[in-house]
Parts: sequence; C-alpha cells; structure tokens
Amino acid sequence: LNTGHTGVDIPEISDDALAEINRILEMRHNFSISNYKDTCMKRRIAIRVRSCRCQDAAAYCEILRHNDSEVDLLKKTLTIHVSQFFRNPSLFDKLQREIFPSLFQKPPSEHQPLRIWSCGCAGGEEAYSLAIILAQFYARELHHCPVEIHASDIDADILQEAARAEYSEERLKDLPAALRERYFVPSGSRMQLVASIRRMVTFHHQNITDIESYEKFHMVVCRNTLIYFTRPDQITILRGIANILPSDGILVLGMSETLVGDVRGLFSVVCPVERIYRRR
Ligand SMILES: C[S@@+](CC[C@H](N)C(=O)[O-])C[C@H]1O[C@@H](n2cnc3c(N)ncnc32)[C@H](O)[C@@H]1O
Repeated sequence: LNTGHTGVDIPEISDDALAEINRILEMRHNFSISNYKDTCMKRRIAIRVRSCRCQDAAAYCEILRHNDSEVDLLKKTLTIHVSQFFRNPSLFDKLQREIFPSLFQKPPSEHQPLRIWSCGCAGGEEAYSLAIILAQFYARELHHCPVEIHASDIDADILQEAARAEYSEERLKDLPAALRERYFVPSGSRMQLVASIRRMVTFHHQNITDIESYEKFHMVVCRNTLIYFTRPDQITILRGIANILPSDGILVLGMSETLVGDVRGLFSVVCPVERIYRRR
C-alpha cells in the first residue's frame, strides 16, 4: 500500500493486475481499458479495491473472477458519468448567440436535418441542454430546418437513465431559472424534463473508439471524455470526428481538452476558451 499525502491508504495496482482486470472486463463486457490512460484507470480501480476491503489488487482480481456484479460496478467506476445541465454556462451562451445562428445561416440542403452529436453523453444533460436552447431560441428556424440530436455513450445503463430524464436539483444548478420553470416538472424528489424536449434527442449505445461506426454530423460536442484516453487514441478519435464533419462543421471539446497532433491543422479556432473549433 502507498500512503498518499491525504493519509489514506491507496492500494497499488501492478501492470499485471491491470492486464488481468482488462481481460475480465473484455470477457464480460467486450470493453477494453487498454485505450485509456493507465494512471487514470489505476486510480479508479483502487477505489473499488478499497470499497471491497481487499488487501491488494490480487485479492480484488479474485473477487472479479467470481462476482459478475462487481465487474459491472467496476466498469461503472471506470467510465465516470459526471455531468450537469449547461455545464460551463459561457459555452452554452456562445452556442446560443454565435454558433447556432451560423449553422442555421447555411442549413443543410432541402428536407435534410441539421445533425448534432453529443458523444460521451452520460445522463443526457449536455444533449438536452442543446435541445432546450434550440426550442427556446430557435423555434422559428426549427420549423424550416429540423434538428436531430444524437447522444451516445458506452454505458447502456446510463443511457436508460438519460432517456428517463429525471434529475436531482444538483444537476440543474446552472440552468437559468426561466428555462427550468418552463422545461421541468417535479417528479417525486426529482425534476423531469418535459416530453417535447425529450423527443428531440435519441440515445445510442456506442464506443467512441469504434470510429467505423461514426455517422455524418454538422456539429459534434465531445466534452470531458477524451481526457481519459491516451494521446494516440485521442488523435484517432479526433481524426474520426474531423472525417465526418463537413467544411464549416463545428467541434466542441471540454474546457480542459484541446486538439492534438496533426488534427490541429484540420480545424480553425472559433473560441479558444470555450474550445469551439470549425472544420476547415
Ligand atoms: C465525464 S462524462 C462527460 C459527460 C458530458 N459530455 C459532459 O461533459 O458533461 C464522460 C462520459 O464518457 C463516457 N465514455 C467513457 N468511455 C467511453 C467510450 N469508450 N465510448 C463512449 N463513451 C465513453 C462515460 O461513460 C461517461 O458517461
């Protein structure tokens, strides 16, 4: 055990243990952690090792071999789902005032929808935030140019929650009061998004590393998901996204993410702080 500066014992996860855990996850979920950053994965695995009160990673692997529900729980811990409505409000302000007008100015050809992809969508907060802005500020445009919002994640359970669209108050704290009043109704101790907004988003189970499965979109919002991947995988994913965007298509990354490698040459920077890029 290491004792970090917090004074809490952090179980050490050897490379062998990591490889064994990867094998178990691949067998049960066809999910590989080899694309993700090792340090990130080891830190999260250590959380489960501690929660199971295991002496070390070898003892934890033994549990994983015999207990499928622990394998499921580990997978959840590894694909963390932190999100909220209007996360980084200045971004949503920019999208509302600058980006959506530019997209509607050059709509796709007649009868074609404007397609938006929220990838790594967690509980749907990001995709629904985009839908709320469109419904609230672009109702007239939507009449002439339908919009499809496609939201995807690797975790099938979180997608089911996303489709239910029931949220705790915490998830709504950055949502302007007027929008909250208009688009949410109480549901027990939670708030549920109204059906008209829910209908604007479809959810899909998809692994972001499977770039062959990408469809064509006019705007891709991929925030706080790339950070967990190794640099070579970030480059592969970003290249995949660049390939499905038309010239002038929009890419949005998370506040602590940026374009890497040769992908930088494929985009111009629209807003450096909000990480908004336009396909060249
Ligand atoms: C921190 S959340 C980001 C949520 C939202 N985009 C935001 O910024 O608020 C990261 C999401 O990426 C998903 N994810 C992790 N690995 C993935 C993969 N290989 N393919 C698709 N989604 C993945 C996780 O399940 C999780 O829901």
